[in-house]
Amino acid sequence: MSCSTGCTPSSISGRVAPPPSATYACGTVLNLENKKSLEAYRCGGEIHGLNAIPEICLRLHNRGIEELILRSLRQGDEVNLERFGSELGPSSKELFSPYPWMDRSRAWDVFTAAIGRSVEGIDLAYLVFHEGLPVAHFVLWGAKGQHKFRELTLRIPTLGLAVADRLHNRGIGRLCVQFLQEVAQQLQADALELTAAMQNCIAARLYAACDFQEIGTLRIPLGVDPSTSLVECKGIGTWREERHMVYTLATERAWVVRDYLLCKELEHAAIDRV
Ligand SMILES: CC(C)(COP(=O)(O)OP(=O)(O)OC[C@H]1O[C@@H](n2cnc3c(N)ncnc32)[C@H](O)[C@@H]1OP(=O)(O)O)[C@@H](O)C(=O)NCCC(=O)NCCS
Repeated sequence: MSCSTGCTPSSISGRVAPPPSATYACGTVLNLENKKSLEAYRCGGEIHGLNAIPEICLRLHNRGIEELILRSLRQGDEVNLERFGSELGPSSKELFSPYPWMDRSRAWDVFTAAIGRSVEGIDLAYLVFHEGLPVAHFVLWGAKGQHKFRELTLRIPTLGLAVADRLHNRGIGRLCVQFLQEVAQQLQADALELTAAMQNCIAARLYAACDFQEIGTLRIPLGVDPSTSLVECKGIGTWREERHMVYTLATERAWVVRDYLLCKELEHAAIDRV
């Protein structure tokens, strides 16, 4: 996969988030320059919204990875999501399970739906390629979602991430989290939330290193993505109690965000009794 050098990054402070449909030079939308893990990046064109990020070429510091290409999920990416699944062993598939990986006939339709939601900007999903193969997939579910809570409107997308097993511990996961933190800032989100399996200490360490705080545990349904409403999840058989973490962007709303997420934990815990 080739990547032309369209524009170079430029640093802008005190930015106002652009409307998602606008066209911008990449440096004004994604300020990746200050990311410690990154040696260089260049963008293959203008950005027509956070759901249509063109190919961005990235080089990581001292990790033996020459070039990675990051881009938004696009129409026709079912094949890349399937290929990415084949880069995950059984344990990773279990730890990152928004898709029914093991059920090929159903997975394709779920991929199609996920691509549609990302193209529309309801969720924001991305792929990272190395030597032409998809090696990371990461998502902000509910990027447009708003939650009414105590007369406030909160925007708290959910972060999900997986990296190909053979490229673990090379800095790709950290880069993806930092990228999504930058995207969340552009969305003017109040916070990001995520869950990680209790035994997934590597993920917990990565998120803590990226300033996520553990706030409790959240019961989640497996095999469905986190934008599925709680009502729709009622029939789902397998649930798992996971570590619940938050990264707050709107520091003045930190306590409201926390209270909202704690209420969500209680609501999910009570799902069987609803
Ligand atoms: C969790 C995951 C995304 C991390 O991705 P990664 O690309 O391996 O992470 P990085 O290389 O950026 O490492 C970031 C931090 O994670 C920790 N880490 C990563 N691999 C580790 C390992 N093998 N042992 C110990 N710590 C490790 C380190 O704290 C590391 O920080 P450092 O580079 O300063 O030492 C990856 O392991 C993965 O995809 N796992 C399977 C799916 C999954 O668990 N997804 C998360 C669901 S919540």
